[in-house]
Amino acid sequence: MKVTVVSRGGREATVTDLQEAIHKQTKKFYPSRQRLTLPIPPGSKDRPIVLHSKKSLKEYSDGNSGNLTVVFKDLGPQVSYRTLFFCEYLGPLLLYPVFYFFPDVYCFFGYSVSSVTHHPVQTYALYYWCFHYFKRIMETFFIHRFSHATSPISNVFRNCAYYWTFGSYIAYYVNHPLYTPVSDCQMKIGFGFGMLCQVSNLYCHIILRNLRGPDGNGWYQIPRGFLFNIVTCANYTTEIYQWLGFNIATQTIAGYVFLVVATSIMSNWALIKHRRLRKLFDGKEGRPKYPRRWVILPPFF
Ligand SMILES: NC(=O)c1ccc[n+]([C@@H]2O[C@H](COP(=O)([O-])OP(=O)(O)OC[C@H]3O[C@@H](n4cnc5c(N)ncnc54)[C@H](OP(=O)(O)O)[C@@H]3O)[C@@H](O)[C@H]2O)c1
Repeated sequence: MKVTVVSRGGREATVTDLQEAIHKQTKKFYPSRQRLTLPIPPGSKDRPIVLHSKKSLKEYSDGNSGNLTVVFKDLGPQVSYRTLFFCEYLGPLLLYPVFYFFPDVYCFFGYSVSSVTHHPVQTYALYYWCFHYFKRIMETFFIHRFSHATSPISNVFRNCAYYWTFGSYIAYYVNHPLYTPVSDCQMKIGFGFGMLCQVSNLYCHIILRNLRGPDGNGWYQIPRGFLFNIVTCANYTTEIYQWLGFNIATQTIAGYVFLVVATSIMSNWALIKHRRLRKLFDGKEGRPKYPRRWVILPPFF
């Protein structure tokens, strides 16, 4: 497909202009659905260079001719990151209270429920859980500054399946009529420690927010201060420990299974983020060397 981009008012044409020109030509390919790369020479094993929307087209065309060949990939239907996060967090926020407030649901699983008196640990677990997911929705809308505007729509189904299923699985066991509570002391230690980690997690997200400008500009920076001076992904560290606090207080197999799965997912992401920051900063002219830090959980890795 041949696309002509005309620069206006002496301003250099940018990748965004090209994306808009493609969109004009084929309506369904709105800009966030497009991935534009430079063609790789035959036989080369290099990764293709992805065109950055804010850069001028001249930067990719060696500046010598008005012609630029790019490879177009359709990323498929997209949703905004805010919509994606909102959908995945709304499920656990709404489903968990169903098991607490409507014990009749256990009748479907073969338990006869006449009258249910909740133990304080179950009530505090409800508050803790709802606070956690409410906080995450608020962070999504008012704190995070995402670098990518959108995500493929298929991620909504995958992520909702993960959060909604685990949310229901844990809620089922913690609110179960045959639930055996832990001691009062263990409950206080668990929830106390967990709440401390939740507040620390919020603080970590505020630190990450301040690394970028209001419009999400600034790409990736080295996070500094608080627990970021010890680990690269202090936000994941505090997230993992807050789930540990919840599990110390509620003590269910379902909760610990979620902890193990979430820890393995976040450890994997933390490793990728740690490597990316090292690649971006180590040995790059004029940039500070990436400081030696643990990735996520000292002293494990
Ligand atoms: N329970 C679970 O299974 C689970 C799993 C994952 C996450 N979480 C929770 O959800 C939170 C959000 O997770 P996430 O993985 O989507 O995002 P994240 O990595 O925690 O980052 C949060 C925001 O900060 C930005 N950011 C991260 N590192 C940055 C850096 N070095 N420089 C500039 N900006 C940076 C991110 O930008 P980008 O848009 O560029 O990424 C994103 O907008 C986590 O912190 C955690 O509390 C829970």
